[in-house]
Amino acid sequence: MMAETRLPVEASACGKVILLGEHAVVYGRPALAAPVCGLRARARAEPLPPGAGCWIEAPDTGERLRLSEAPDHPLARTVRLALEHLGLPEPDLRLVLRSELPVAGGLGSSAAASAALVRALFRWADRTPEPEIVSALVYEIEKLHHGTPSGIDNTVIAYERPIRFVRGRPPVLLRIARPFTLVIADSGVPSPTRETVAAVRAGWEREPARYEALFDAIADLVQEAEACLQAGAIEALGPLLDANHRILQELGVSSPLLDHLVEAARMAGALGAKLTGGGRGGNVIALVRPEDVEVVTRALRAAGARGAFATEVRAD
Ligand code: MEV
Repeated sequence: MMAETRLPVEASACGKVILLGEHAVVYGRPALAAPVCGLRARARAEPLPPGAGCWIEAPDTGERLRLSEAPDHPLARTVRLALEHLGLPEPDLRLVLRSELPVAGGLGSSAAASAALVRALFRWADRTPEPEIVSALVYEIEKLHHGTPSGIDNTVIAYERPIRFVRGRPPVLLRIARPFTLVIADSGVPSPTRETVAAVRAGWEREPARYEALFDAIADLVQEAEACLQAGAIEALGPLLDANHRILQELGVSSPLLDHLVEAARMAGALGAKLTGGGRGGNVIALVRPEDVEVVTRALRAAGARGAFATEVRAD
């Protein structure tokens, strides 16, 4: 009876970029990540008549499933986890999920979709989840998508704040003295995190000492970058992004197209650039002075990016 009189509720979750430290973070090294607030996954929960059951629809991918009939689907697993946490039985509810985030683009599309669903269900239950609860629930689903995720994607998306992240520890909110601008460009090539993480693991198993040294070198860059952000030394951050990209090349997770995009951004005046996320495809980030946004964005498109847009990481 109550469900029929209720109004729909909505919730959303942002995307993310890894600023520095992807892959090494899987091996216990620190990484820095920031939310991308302008690209979001959105979930809407609409009441259905009693007995209708719970339906999940994702018009972007053409999926429509009934909760009770899709036990293993990641979206159904997300909903079931959230309901279990809330202590609720299957509701009579239609959940509609839409996302502006490219799938397998290294921008956290899977974690954002799960976080939006979790938040919508909490809102439906008149509860506000703490970020650590959203993060923990979404992490369970990330394991289904990505195998052995570090937990950085679910964490930055749940907190919607720039973070320093070390696997297995609570995040540290980054102190950012001056805002800075990134241009994010999509290679248009899918970047399945599960595959790139597995490729790095295979390399690490073959040559553990070499890979550990590369992870340590990334950790040093992360530490320097954190100091730059705290000091507002944005120009000094650029070469650190470049150096991180070079190590990612050595780890075997770049590609000719990603290298070409990164180079195009630098030639157009970016302070530094690198791939972001799992790599092999997905997105690159370029650190730019605000006055160079236009020219760098145009250069990235001309170099073959499917799309490119600017986002600001705010100071605190
Ligand atoms: C994915 O956004 C970042 C990786 O380091 C994987 C992970 O941390 O789980 C590639």
